[in-house]
Amino acid sequence: MNRFTDLVGSRWPLQQAGMSGTATATLAAAVSNAGGLGMIGVGRQHLAVIERYLDEVAALTTDPVGCTCIAHLVQPDVVELVASRLPIVEFFYEWPDPARVPANVICGWQVGSVDEAKAAVDAGCRYVIAQGMEAGGHVRGHVPLAELLPAVRSAVDVPVVAAGGIGTAAAVRAALRLGADAVRVGTRFVATRESYAHPAYIDALVGASSDDSVLTEAFGIGWPNAPHRVLRSAIDAAGAAPSDVVGETVPRGGKPMPMLRFGASSPNRDTTGDISAMALYAGVSVGAVDRVMTAAEVVAELCAGFD
Ligand SMILES: Cc1cc2nc3c(=O)[nH]c(=O)nc-3n(C[C@H](O)[C@H](O)[C@H](O)COP(=O)(O)O)c2cc1C
Repeated sequence: MNRFTDLVGSRWPLQQAGMSGTATATLAAAVSNAGGLGMIGVGRQHLAVIERYLDEVAALTTDPVGCTCIAHLVQPDVVELVASRLPIVEFFYEWPDPARVPANVICGWQVGSVDEAKAAVDAGCRYVIAQGMEAGGHVRGHVPLAELLPAVRSAVDVPVVAAGGIGTAAAVRAALRLGADAVRVGTRFVATRESYAHPAYIDALVGASSDDSVLTEAFGIGWPNAPHRVLRSAIDAAGAAPSDVVGETVPRGGKPMPMLRFGASSPNRDTTGDISAMALYAGVSVGAVDRVMTAAEVVAELCAGFD
């Protein structure tokens, strides 16, 4: 359909954001089976967990799936493993570094500025994601997507994916008109049946409007000085929590870990405790979340009319 879909092999110019803890093999495969580009999210997970994700994804789809790595959290052996099993590997939240770019895969980098986009291309990336400040989760961008996207588009010669606040088919079209080769969508996919997010987190997204998404540094424990977008209700609930531990999570194959008040980890199906007081990441696009859908329904809604 265009140079992004040609590069990655998806049917539609729609990428699901790799969201560590939320975007496991089940979500990524469902998105790819629906014609988008599904991405597994990787942060601190151990090699054995990632190995299991890769086996699961291979059993669930034959379409291309990629992996998004939080650059300063992911271990080199994990990157090596995903690069040996998946065709697309990308990074976020460190300045682009050629030493991180694996050979023999299509590598991308999510960036928040024109200079960072140029550095990504110089480092060997074959596409970049321009992230506007409307984005859910950690936010690299300092300007709205409508400003960043055309600037990045004219500065680099690789496909540019637009991210941040895109939750409707109209927003998808608008981003493509502004020069994006594809869009990247996170928050909408958190509220899907295949997402690994905690059900109470998903309910909070369904009940929220765009105004409830706020840019903050509040959930900085474990990842300090890093702006992120969450639901305002989470900041209020964490502020009112009686203890510095608001719950516990037991990662697959791992040991129980406390969920700290104002900690950066978002709650998933392995988490117990006061979910409302945890990092409920949400972009401005949360206004478009009005019910829980399947990933395929979200892809079909956002790509309606494409052929
Ligand atoms: C719950 C959640 C977790 C996220 N985790 C990651 C992550 O692990 N790695 C990453 O590159 N981006 C992550 N992001 C940011 C996305 O890549 C993307 O920029 C963002 O979701 C786009 O905005 P939207 O949520 O309005 O669609 C996350 C976003 C959300 C909502």
